[in-house]
Amino acid sequence: MKPVKVGILGLGTVGGGTVNVLTRNAAEIARRAGRDIIITRASARDLSRSRICDTSGITLTTDPLDIINDPDIEIVLELIGGTGLVKELVFKALEQGKHVVTANKALIALHGNEIFNKASEKGLIVAFEAAVAGGIPIIKAIREGLSGNRIEWLAGIINGTGNFILTEMRDKGRDFADVLAEAQALGYAEADPTFDVEGIDAGHKLTILASIAFGIPLQFDKVFTEGITKITREDVEFAEQLGYRIKHLGIARKTLEGIELRVHPTLIPVRRLIANVNGVMNAVVVKGDAVGPTLYYGAGAGAEPTASAVVADVVDVVRALTGDPENRVPHLAFQADAIADIPVLPAREFKTAYYLRLNAEDKPGVLADVTRILASHNISIEAIIQKEPLDNKQFLPIIMLTQQTWEHEMDAAIIEIEALATVTGKVNRIRLETLG
Ligand code: NDP
Ligand code: HSE
Repeated sequence: MKPVKVGILGLGTVGGGTVNVLTRNAAEIARRAGRDIIITRASARDLSRSRICDTSGITLTTDPLDIINDPDIEIVLELIGGTGLVKELVFKALEQGKHVVTANKALIALHGNEIFNKASEKGLIVAFEAAVAGGIPIIKAIREGLSGNRIEWLAGIINGTGNFILTEMRDKGRDFADVLAEAQALGYAEADPTFDVEGIDAGHKLTILASIAFGIPLQFDKVFTEGITKITREDVEFAEQLGYRIKHLGIARKTLEGIELRVHPTLIPVRRLIANVNGVMNAVVVKGDAVGPTLYYGAGAGAEPTASAVVADVVDVVRALTGDPENRVPHLAFQADAIADIPVLPAREFKTAYYLRLNAEDKPGVLADVTRILASHNISIEAIIQKEPLDNKQFLPIIMLTQQTWEHEMDAAIIEIEALATVTGKVNRIRLETLG
């Protein structure tokens, strides 16, 4: 059969990795796809830059439209990133009848609903395995492997940069800024790294995971996001002493009231496998009603791990080229007319356990005041420890673990605790999940 010609927009970390993998493994990939896959054109902003890949034999351009308008190209790989220009490019590619493969989670989370409608209208595929958890085939696992299940919840470490930073800070005592700079140099971080450390990138990925897990529209604006910048070394140490580890998790859970979509630092028991996922590695636990909990683990960022997912999508598209578009796996796992508008809960209606750290005067009755406030909001304490003073000798850190409660009850209790004359500063709260 005739080779399939593909064009690549973007020759950076992921684009370069994709050229390398498609070239190095060409024969093996052709045995799987049933046809040779050839990169004929690629684009970048600055063609004089050195690349991580060999581009000989590929026609290079600075104008992505040269690729989109090339009638011989059947599949366009969007590996630029961002949501402005790139959204236009993807729509233009679909207009030109090209299938699209993208690693761009921001694009899918923000504009996926429109993009998939357009693609379906045109009988085309927009594949996005690389958009979530780098090289882990998590989209395929949920969309196809778990399609017999009702998914109850999923929880994942879905940002490699953030996990790399937390791991290096905990294991080597390194500074936040220093580790972030290394993550950028290694090509893990987003163009704007606040997306990584403030939970926006994980929020984009959670939006996608929740959509394919529960059959709901993509709705990034309803995801609660909290980043890792406020985690202190003390909290990491106290959590360890209590048998927990702090990880930055994306959590999607279906409850009777609606769906929780949240990204935040989370205490999880050290004995859980996911608590021991370190560095740039990602992991996602998915709980299905039939299969029970399942765990997916692998590199969450980087050139070739991400290229592995991009190339798998290319192979899927090539295999589907001759098939009937009506019988394809739906973009968001559920048939487009079966996507349900299940409500996404506001943060105040989340139900979770908490780790609290506060600084209180070393006086009789202080602890009683704090526990009285918590009890008045129906919050039960699971564990409580009082530590030696840190810097300020007058105040002692008190650490508490609570049982599950409503977020709005905890918000109200914290306001009252912070108002106590014997408590100084803010109460530091970190959510806690047992993932049992
Ligand atoms: P890079 O910044 O390394 O590469 C981006 C590429 O796009 C570069 O080749 C750049 O050209 C080109 N480019 C940038 N802006 C424009 C523009 N306006 N017009 C034309 N070309 C442009 O990004 P990554 O490879 O890291 O990321 C690409 C996508 O993959 C993003 O959506 C990202 O979120 C996603 N992703 C990244 C992962 C990673 O580990 N890095 C993992 C999973 C997904 P030039 O090289 O000349 O500057
Ligand atoms: N910046 C992202 C991360 C890239 O660190 O996880 C992979 O999506």
